[in-house]
Amino acid sequence: MLRKLFRKKTPDIQFIDDRIESVKRKPIPNHVAIIMDGNGRWAKQRKMPRIAGHHEGMKKVRQITNFANALGVKALTLYAFSTENWKRPKLEIDFLMNLPGEFLNTYLPELMERDIKVEMIGNIEALPAHTRSAIIKAIETTKNNKGLVLNFAMNYGSRVELVHVMKEIVQEVEDGTIQKEDIDENVINSRLMTAHLPEPDLLIRTSGEVRLSNFMLWQLAYAEFIFTNVLWPDFNEECFLASIEDFQHRDRRFGSLEGDQKG
Ligand code: IPE
Ligand code: IPE
Ligand code: MG
Repeated sequence: MLRKLFRKKTPDIQFIDDRIESVKRKPIPNHVAIIMDGNGRWAKQRKMPRIAGHHEGMKKVRQITNFANALGVKALTLYAFSTENWKRPKLEIDFLMNLPGEFLNTYLPELMERDIKVEMIGNIEALPAHTRSAIIKAIETTKNNKGLVLNFAMNYGSRVELVHVMKEIVQEVEDGTIQKEDIDENVINSRLMTAHLPEPDLLIRTSGEVRLSNFMLWQLAYAEFIFTNVLWPDFNEECFLASIEDFQHRDRRFGSLEGDQKG
């Protein structure tokens, strides 16, 4: 029985290993952003409550983070809760607000072991105290780590972010610390919550929805987009690998005539 299983599995595992090696030889996206969508539908398909989908989705965060880190991705931004998600039923919101604590408390030792640095974009002030403290503890504990930046977009909305940047710049003009003529893309970039991260190269959205839902509108200007029908709780290492392979075959021209990066 074991032998049979072993014989059956070996070619597949070998095949995946070969694909990983081949992907690693080509340019890996520095920054991957994921809209983790479809948890509710995953649960509904199984006649389970929506929160069961969120719980399963959390396990995938761990798996994909480790895999992205192993591939050499520098930053992984995961859209976990949008400024619009407050419109959901209170019970679902309460459950979602417990997930960072559960995830980070159980996973923190592993994050340390793997040298992963936790960060967050979004308005932390409006989160419940227990969610806030779990995130702050993870950020503090991992702040000197040098591996993958695991950046959670939590209570994040791109429009709110841009409004904030605009107000900040107007204030600086009024104060005379910056001149109107000096406002350029760099001035805006440097005031975004993602200022310290490389620009996202690749955006993945799961669950078949083809929209951005207020996610990094400015930052994604030249990212490659991949929309997959796979629901987030079903999104595994092979799905991530396939996305990177797809990315490596794209011809990124940035407006010029010649590809900057070809797979
Ligand atoms: C994504 O899954 C998780 C969050 C938005 C927090 P959804 O909860 O949106 O799942 P669907 O889209 O209803 O299936
Ligand atoms: C986007 O998913 C937000 C997150 C994945 C956190 P939604 O499920 O909230 O997006 P819409 O409502 O379908 O656009
Ligand atoms: Mg959704």
